[in-house]
Amino acid sequence: MAAKYKVPRGTYDILPDVSDKWIYLENMFKKLALSFDYKLIVTPIFEKSDLFERSVGDTSDIVEKEMYKFQDKKGRMFALRPEGTAPVVRSYVENNLGIGNSVVKLMYHGPMFRYDRPQKGRYRQFYQYGVEAIGSNNPYIDAEVITLAYSFLKNLGLSNFNLEINNIGCPVCSKDYDKALVEYFEQYREQLCPDCQKRMHKNPKRLLDCKVKTCKEIGADAPVITDYLDDECRTHFEQVQNYLTQMDVPFEVNPRIVRGLDYYTGTAFEIINNGLKTQNALLGGGRYNSLTEQVGGKPQPGIGFAGGFERLLIAIEEANLELPFENLPDVYMIDLGEKAQNMMPGLILNLRNNGLHVSYDIDKTSMKAQMKAADKSGAQCVIIIGDEEIENNAVNVKNMNCRTQKQVKLDAVRELNNESFAELMAELADLQEK
Ligand code: HAM
Repeated sequence: MAAKYKVPRGTYDILPDVSDKWIYLENMFKKLALSFDYKLIVTPIFEKSDLFERSVGDTSDIVEKEMYKFQDKKGRMFALRPEGTAPVVRSYVENNLGIGNSVVKLMYHGPMFRYDRPQKGRYRQFYQYGVEAIGSNNPYIDAEVITLAYSFLKNLGLSNFNLEINNIGCPVCSKDYDKALVEYFEQYREQLCPDCQKRMHKNPKRLLDCKVKTCKEIGADAPVITDYLDDECRTHFEQVQNYLTQMDVPFEVNPRIVRGLDYYTGTAFEIINNGLKTQNALLGGGRYNSLTEQVGGKPQPGIGFAGGFERLLIAIEEANLELPFENLPDVYMIDLGEKAQNMMPGLILNLRNNGLHVSYDIDKTSMKAQMKAADKSGAQCVIIIGDEEIENNAVNVKNMNCRTQKQVKLDAVRELNNESFAELMAELADLQEK
């Protein structure tokens, strides 16, 4: 029978067969970001819509076409967050996080929403992981943020990607560059798409980001920002490159990167999946030195990046990478007989409270069915308890990896915790060697 309700277009369920991978990736990201000294921040899924209109920019695709905006019961306009940077910076300003700290380093992950045309790698609800470092304009921070992004992918075992960096100039050098772009694009006005014609004078850099074929072709010969950087931006860019080289992070300078959001100033970067032609940006980021002011705070420089979990999973699949499962059970409990089944709930709760991951299926009654389920679960060991074992205060513990087993006192099983469990598994592994 066909399901009556389906997920909304452009969204999907994260089902148990992939949720282990999600947990693993989230944990790996959090672990790495913690080691770079970032702390988790969680902001609401919706914000006042003008937060994004002011910062992401009203000539960006996100604000012009893709925001899920809604009115609440009092007529206030909100939007489901299309990205995480503006909310994090809003929170930084609102909570005075900068007081007493030179740099505030924050990480986040969670769902974002964009009303985009869905296809592989592009969804209307998608999940980002990202970081923001607010409070320093030191090029070392740029290099550190980029290195964190690069290391995350590298440590997962990915290699078929390229890091591309650019500097899109500060508001001062941007002015000359924008003028040169307008002059250039004016010659081709009639051939440009309606969006580009509209955006040309308001935000000419947006034209370099247009996906329409003719606009792309025209944009290929447009002036490049590198020729317009002032001394300060040029030196900053060179220092970022020096730090990256020092940290052994391979990169390419791509003067065509402009990024699709308006808050960027200075450093901009993307990591591209070389295996794909479309939706190939694994992650992107850059500096936003005017953003705290745009959301009503004192000026503070900032830089960050965000990547999409879905695109990461596609890259992992393409590379045939097997992610280690972190969530396999330690123990699969098997009961034989009524007495054993009656004592199971208490015993299992004990083990779980002691920190062990325990699987048990009370509905499976035959030994064969329970052993099959234990095998399938990937548990490290099975503990088999029958009425006889209870009487003798001795139960069979079987290491499923090396298939060795031994009898252990029921009282000792009840007390098992992570440490004693690891010792018991090691003991069983030794038995195999002997
Ligand atoms: P963004 O380039 O718009 O930047 O998005 C970052 C990443 O999110 C993309 O590289 C891509 O992996 C993923 N992504 C974006 N849209 C979709 C979609 N519709 N479906 C699936 N994945 C998607 C930002 O969002 C900035 N806030 C990044 C940043 C942080 N800049 C500074 N700090």
